[in-house]
Amino acid sequence: MTTRAVVRGLGHYLPERVVENDEFTRTLDTSDEWIRTRSGIERRHFAAEGETTSQMAARAARNALDDAGLNASDIDAIILATSTPDLTFPSAATMVQNELGMTGGFAFDVQAVCAGFIFALANANAMINSGMAKRILVVGAETFSRILDFEDRATCVLFGDGAGALVLEAQPGTGNKDDRGILAVDLNSDGSQRDLLYVDGGVSTTGTAGVLKMQGPELFKQAVNKLAETALAALEKAGLEAHDLDWIVPHQANIRIIAGTAKKLGLTMENVIVTLHDHGNTSAASIPLALSVANQQGKFKEGDLLLLEAIGGGLAWGAVVLRW
Ligand code: ACO
Repeated sequence: MTTRAVVRGLGHYLPERVVENDEFTRTLDTSDEWIRTRSGIERRHFAAEGETTSQMAARAARNALDDAGLNASDIDAIILATSTPDLTFPSAATMVQNELGMTGGFAFDVQAVCAGFIFALANANAMINSGMAKRILVVGAETFSRILDFEDRATCVLFGDGAGALVLEAQPGTGNKDDRGILAVDLNSDGSQRDLLYVDGGVSTTGTAGVLKMQGPELFKQAVNKLAETALAALEKAGLEAHDLDWIVPHQANIRIIAGTAKKLGLTMENVIVTLHDHGNTSAASIPLALSVANQQGKFKEGDLLLLEAIGGGLAWGAVVLRW
C-alpha cells in the first residue's frame, strides 16, 4: 500500500477593495487597454489598511477547513507560502495557527516567491508520504501591494493581494498513476538569475521591506520555456503525458505566458484555469486561489488529472501532477 496526499478541502479569501485597471490611469501614463492586452489583467484586490497576510491566510484556511468538514484540531501542520509575511518573524504560519485556535502540531513559512505554493505542496506531500503528518493545511497568501513601487508602471499594475488554502490528507493508494492525490513533483531553482525579479530591501541589507524590481521581457522568455520543461518533467515522473491532462492550473502572472505554456504542452485554453483577469498576479496565492475558485464553479470531477505549475523570483520554478 502507498500513502497519497489527497486534496480534501479548498478555500480562499480576497480583500474587499477591487482596483480596476482604470484606477492606475489617474497617476500613471498607462491604459486599461495596455494592461489587458499585455498581461490579461482587468482588476485586482488590494488589502485594506491594517489587513495582513496572516489574517487573509486564516480566512482562506477556515474556508478550506469548512469545505473539508474538519476542525483546526484535526490538522497536524500548517505550511504557508508567502514572500510578504506580517513580520520578519515569527512566521505568518504560526499566526494562522493561533488565529485558528490550533494548540498542537507545527507551522512554518515557505519562501519561493511565485512558486511558493508549489514548494509548500511538495513539502506537505513529502511529510504525508513519510508518515510525519496526516493532514496538512497548505496556504498561499500575499500582500504584494505593500512591496510595489506605484511610480513604476511596468510592475505595479500586475500584482494583487489574496489568499488560498487547501487541506491535504493522507489516504491509501495503490502506488499507480490512477491513484487520487499528488502523483509527482518537480522543483527547480537557479540563484544566478536573481536580478530578473527581486525586492530591493531586506533585514540584513537595507533594514527596510523594499520594492519589487523586474526585468519583464527577459523573465517572460524564461517563464514559458522553464514552465513547459518542469511540467513535462513532473508528468514523466508520474508516468503520464501532457495529453492525459484534464486541467492546467498555472501561476497567474500573464495570459500570454499561460497560453504559451499550454501551447508548448499541446493543450488548448479550454483546459486551463484562468483567474488573473480578476485577481492579477497574487504570487504564492495565485494557484490555490485559482484552484478554489474553479472548484466552486464545479470544474473538477473526481479522477481528473491536474497540472499545477509556477515560476517566480529566485528564479524558482516547479510543477505538481495531481489527481482530483
Ligand atoms: N502601461 C503602458 N505602457 C507600459 C506599461 C504600462 N503599465 N508598462 C510598460 N510599458 C511600456 C514599456 O515602457 C515599453 O515602452 P517602450 O517600448 O517605449 O520602451 C513597452 O510598454 C513595452 O514594454 P515591455 O516590458 O517590453 O512589455 P512586454 O510586452 O514585455 O510586457 C510584461 C511586460 C507584462 C511585464 C511582461 O514582460 C511579463 O509578463 N513578464 C513576465 C512577468 C512574470 O512572469 N512574472 C512572473 C513571476 S512574478 C513573481 O515571481 C513575483
